Amino acid sequence: MKTKFLDLGKQPIANAFLTPGKCEDEFFYDLEVGFDSDTCLVSHMNFVDPPLMFNDEYVYHTSSSQTMVDHFDMTSQIIKNRFREGSILEIGSNDGTFIRNFSPATSVAIEPCKNFAKITVEMGYATYPRFWDYDLVKEIVGRHERFDIIYSANCMCHIPNIEEAFNNVYYALADDGVFIFEDPSLLEMLERNSYDQIYDEHAHVFSVTSLRSLLNKANLEIFSIEKTPVHGGSNRVYVQKSGGPHPHDDSVELEIKHEVDNGVCKLKTYTDFASRVEKSKTQLLELLRDIKDGGNKIISYGATSKSTSVFNYCEIGPDLIDYITDTTPDKQGKLSPGVHIPVISPEEGFDDSVDYAFLGAWNYLEEITKKESKFLRRGGQFITHVPEVRVCRGETAPTT
Ligand code: TYD
Repeated sequence: MKTKFLDLGKQPIANAFLTPGKCEDEFFYDLEVGFDSDTCLVSHMNFVDPPLMFNDEYVYHTSSSQTMVDHFDMTSQIIKNRFREGSILEIGSNDGTFIRNFSPATSVAIEPCKNFAKITVEMGYATYPRFWDYDLVKEIVGRHERFDIIYSANCMCHIPNIEEAFNNVYYALADDGVFIFEDPSLLEMLERNSYDQIYDEHAHVFSVTSLRSLLNKANLEIFSIEKTPVHGGSNRVYVQKSGGPHPHDDSVELEIKHEVDNGVCKLKTYTDFASRVEKSKTQLLELLRDIKDGGNKIISYGATSKSTSVFNYCEIGPDLIDYITDTTPDKQGKLSPGVHIPVISPEEGFDDSVDYAFLGAWNYLEEITKKESKFLRRGGQFITHVPEVRVCRGETAPTT
């Protein structure tokens, strides 16, 4: 049974940046989050239709953050060291940051956003500009045979019908193959109070406990997990067909025990979380208003999906945040979804006039602190809501 525990209000499509003067007919939906007591899965009460989010105007580039480029280089190396290098399929290949580490001769990419699928085609990879559904899987298996490795990062959690997605993985995977995927960790979100992990694209926030239950239904089993620090703390999950050749290590049972001990299977954990989220909203608004009333200029650093979630939930607009700086050219010159804060380049906006910068991209704090040492040296300060609302100068910041 699924029970609603959190209401993040009316939200727009988190990556649908708007052209000034063309903001009419913006799409909004009610972002309500629920807990399923059967599988312990946390997901939206009502899913947003994927083509509204993943289309030819999609703007999130994985390679826009050096941390993610390094992460995918390292992940590729781990996979090559740990498993036989055969054929590989990536579900949700974005701008090719991961797949470029593998030979185009043995790799296939799936990417429903055509503007991104074009990038991997130009890099020489067989790319299907489609959603991960049964028709596609049938077609791919017919053409390429089953895959030794299927990899997916920050994509499985985007798929509303996750049970069908895992069935399709079973179908496309070789009998001795490995399915490796990583997504933000539910436990990390609960611990950091990072409710901004929840937005339209993140239809689910996975615990290993919920994944085990869902994967088993598809005749798949987790044999190992690793924790990675990216995206505010993620789980990388190693999966095979049930009874497959890879030995199980302790990591899975240890993590599930840790999750259960920390309440991931209890509704009360989530109602408590919802109370902390409400408190975070009140405190963030108070802090921003105090700083603004003191005559300071506040901007936001990184026009992220997470900041769309925070700004719309807390109703923070251009009255508090002058503008957002972001390195992605496709976001610059636009207005942020829902609350319409202007987005400009860091070159244009991250200058000596900035007193405070809200960390929309708090998950890259280490990278940002290094890059912005001059800002900090001249007395500039960051504001974050993770793990609690506060002003910080980088040193006591949340981990990436
Ligand atoms: P990310 O947390 O990956 O976004 P999301 O919440 O959408 O998953 O942040 C990536 C965005 O942050 C991207 O638009 C680029 C921007 N960014 C900067 O503007 N400057 C930086 O130094 C970094 C690391 C990211």
